[in-house]
Amino acid sequence: MNEYCIKYGLNEDRLPQHVAIIMDGNGRWAKKRLWNRLVGHRAGADAVDAVTTLCREIGVKYLTLYAFSTENWKRPEAEVTGLMELFKEFLVSKKNLLIEKNIRLNIIGSRDRFLPELLKLMNETIAETEKYDPEMTLTLALSYGSRQEIVSAVKKIAEKIAIHEITPENIDEKMISENLYTFDIPDPDLVIRTSGEYRISNYLLWQIAYSEFYFTDTLWPDFNREELIRALKDYAGRERRFGKTGDQVKG
Ligand code: IPE
Ligand code: IPE
Ligand code: MG
Repeated sequence: MNEYCIKYGLNEDRLPQHVAIIMDGNGRWAKKRLWNRLVGHRAGADAVDAVTTLCREIGVKYLTLYAFSTENWKRPEAEVTGLMELFKEFLVSKKNLLIEKNIRLNIIGSRDRFLPELLKLMNETIAETEKYDPEMTLTLALSYGSRQEIVSAVKKIAEKIAIHEITPENIDEKMISENLYTFDIPDPDLVIRTSGEYRISNYLLWQIAYSEFYFTDTLWPDFNREELIRALKDYAGRERRFGKTGDQVKG
């Protein structure tokens, strides 16, 4: 029995294996206080610790956080630059914690628009946290867009057809999954979106085919342990049927 599950009143047998979060609402959190949006992003980065630690404690194996979408590049230049600085700071300041807690860092998304300094830090942190058998994988979706990810998977498969390595008949769901950025992580069981928005915003479209959803009005910088425990308890009460009848899954 996991001592933290007991402490938080969670049923260990009904935990999600993979939690994916759309961390939304940093800008509104700052605006309410008449602060610059970047202050909100900093508070948002601070909120990541509690969620990561709780997942690690209770034994959630995969946590995936949407931090920057392909569409977010369209924001004002100062905000984009500030966010890139924040990602650098995040990688530097969290590295030791990740190593200490045996958490592997994984990053999904398109790499071509990042500056060399950030790319170097990303690669270093990934390399240093993947040396051993990890207890948990923390995936950051950075410059991530699900449609772009699917396009890139289709291109990879088409190239194999072009060189006659495979034929179109060989294409199946497994092959598509294996050519996505998420090839080495299971599909999310639970997707959480903060800030009262009810949309997916180009996040893991293929992977969420059978995920459960949890929406909260809480703005991301205010999201904490208690909120996550509430979401996990809600998830524990869901019946996942995967197309079958309720009787079939109970039986
Ligand atoms: C989420 O917060 C973080 C990013 C998208 C980078 P927002 O910046 O979208 O915050 P709101 O939605 O404007 O409040
Ligand atoms: C989604 O939030 C992306 C991240 C949380 C990183 P947005 O704030 O960009 O989403 P929309 O534009 O409101 O749908
Ligand atoms: Mg937003």
